[in-house]
Amino acid sequence: MSGVTNTKRPHETAIGLSKADLSTPSLLLDLDVFDANLQKMAAHVKSAGIKLRPHAKSHKCVEIAQRQIGAGALGVCATTIREAEALAAAGIPAILITSPMVGANKVRRLIELTRDHPDAISVVDNHAHVEQLSAAAAAAAVTLNVLVDLDLGLHRTGIASVKEALSLADLIVRLPNLNLRGVSAYSSMSAHIVGYGERRVHSLNAMQPAIELMQRLKRRGVSAEILSGGSTGTYNIDTELDGMTELQAGSYIFMDVDYRVIGGKSGPIFDDFGPSLTVMATVVSKSHSGFATVDAGFKAFATDRPFGPDLRGVTGCTYHFAGDEHGILELADPGLDLGFGDRLEFIVPHCDPTVNLFDRIYCTRGHTVEAVWPICRGYD
Ligand SMILES: Cc1ncc(COP(=O)(O)O)c(C=O)c1O
Repeated sequence: MSGVTNTKRPHETAIGLSKADLSTPSLLLDLDVFDANLQKMAAHVKSAGIKLRPHAKSHKCVEIAQRQIGAGALGVCATTIREAEALAAAGIPAILITSPMVGANKVRRLIELTRDHPDAISVVDNHAHVEQLSAAAAAAAVTLNVLVDLDLGLHRTGIASVKEALSLADLIVRLPNLNLRGVSAYSSMSAHIVGYGERRVHSLNAMQPAIELMQRLKRRGVSAEILSGGSTGTYNIDTELDGMTELQAGSYIFMDVDYRVIGGKSGPIFDDFGPSLTVMATVVSKSHSGFATVDAGFKAFATDRPFGPDLRGVTGCTYHFAGDEHGILELADPGLDLGFGDRLEFIVPHCDPTVNLFDRIYCTRGHTVEAVWPICRGYD
């Protein structure tokens, strides 16, 4: 045997290829749509006079965070310490971790993160946690920035009432090595309410306790300058609130089926932001008329929603999950001509957990792969 063995992995030689040359399933980002989404949100927050700290849980990608900062975001949100570390190491400023960092491992890493990046912030909703953070920070001679996390009805994380939040704030102010910066209040229950009018009423009501908490903190002389919250679904609603200082929207850069069906101000499809993220699959079997099997199943699309992906730009067919590696397209329209070997692009059911299934995003302009961006997925 002679010749040179090519040791490069496929993604290392993908730039400049046509997307038709990529393996499937692959996660694709349409850069023209992505750029338009970035600019639209940037223009919206600018005209509303509010800051943007977009949620990086949607993308887990340094390159995307860099572009969000480039478009004017003051920092990004993160959910895991691993995301926060990866983003901070790449120079992303002002990272707000919106999940409480509980346990010795996370507390130690939060302290190290803050030592190197003093603008990092995390959330708290519990007296014992606050005492632990203060003691660990004092021992390390670091000051941790915290926001009081207020529950707006989901009962997931967040302190239950304004009264309890005030008592927690008093404790934070008393304890050493903690710096109370304000309030985090994310109304998950408002984000996907179908119908702009209904969503608006729900979100404006849901956010009232957060507004009240900020006002009462200020009346006590506490320097609470941040009220952070909001989502893609309420991006043009929460900016109406007097007292909201920044938006945490995340999915707007990608969009997904879950968001498209909630409806926008002007119609039944929420299309303020375009679907930039797709999973590309191949038709690998066509043994039965009226059906086509693609090579993307449970391991290519998040399955936490009661619906599957939508074929981009094509109507008249429905995707059904058919196992780990496959999906079956039911072709209701007999005129729909999907051939063996065809490449198809699907808008994903839910972008955040779908991104977490892939190691990288292939960024395309037209048919050409322009960049390959790693995803900092999983836990560590
Ligand atoms: C705390 C928090 N803030 C903001 C967001 C962003 O929401 P979206 O991706 O719907 O814009 C999320 C999403 O789950 C979240 O958990």
